[in-house]
Amino acid sequence: MKTPSIPNTGRILDYWLGGSHHFPIDVEAAKVFDTVYPNFPTVFRTLRDYIGRVCRYIESQGINQFLVFGSGIPTCGNVHEAVPQAKVLYTDIDAINIELGKEILANNPNADYAFCDATNFDTLNRSIVTQVLGSIQRLGIIFIGVSAFIPDETLANVLDTLYDWVPAGSFLALDFDGEAGMQYPKVLELLESTGEPLYMRNPTTIRPLLGRWRLTTHDIVPVAAWQAEPSSILVENKEPVFMYGCVAYK
Ligand SMILES: C[S@@+](CC[C@H](N)C(=O)[O-])C[C@H]1O[C@@H](n2cnc3c(N)ncnc32)[C@H](O)[C@@H]1O
Repeated sequence: MKTPSIPNTGRILDYWLGGSHHFPIDVEAAKVFDTVYPNFPTVFRTLRDYIGRVCRYIESQGINQFLVFGSGIPTCGNVHEAVPQAKVLYTDIDAINIELGKEILANNPNADYAFCDATNFDTLNRSIVTQVLGSIQRLGIIFIGVSAFIPDETLANVLDTLYDWVPAGSFLALDFDGEAGMQYPKVLELLESTGEPLYMRNPTTIRPLLGRWRLTTHDIVPVAAWQAEPSSILVENKEPVFMYGCVAYK
């Protein structure tokens, strides 16, 4: 495998989550991020735990096929570990993540990894989708950790394309980077240097991007607060939010 010369956020997360699928350039970048905000490992553990909760919720709605965008490294609580009985196709734009992902999943009959640019659904080879997931039934689309790299118009278009493509009764889980990042301009600068500029949003700006997708009653909330069975006790938290999440359906 070629050693990358540019860090990748999926592998930086792997380092923060205690995984073993990253390179010195990713660790170097993670350490620079840590100097700006030492709690990133916790922020991304929270995001990975959110992935687990939304996947289990979607599975509980009778869905056993998952298509994942901007997947990063498929370990440390990623989708197929959260719903091991389901069929899972991970996708990413990064060639090294795809190669690592294919290696990690080589002996797993339920999961595989392929290329897809999340800004253009046509870049996904549809025959791989049916090869891995089987004939398409209601799907769980996991679009987490990647919308922050996609400008509004492109994101709205891709979500709309996905809506047309999936069978009725499918679910979509998303997250969006919140306003907390704005307090750390150095983080934005660093991300720019990895070639992944960041788009930050809040529930008001997120809603119109969902188009025809209908939000579940969980609404759009900080990912740490998203629960399959919302608690009636609302704990008010005025802290700026790193990531908001929501689940929507067709
Ligand atoms: C922050 S990681 C998220 C990993 C995982 N989904 C999670 O939330 O823990 C972002 C991933 O999105 C990928 N990515 C960035 N832009 C992308 C695009 N346009 N299409 C597909 N993947 C993309 C990166 O290569 C990286 O693996």
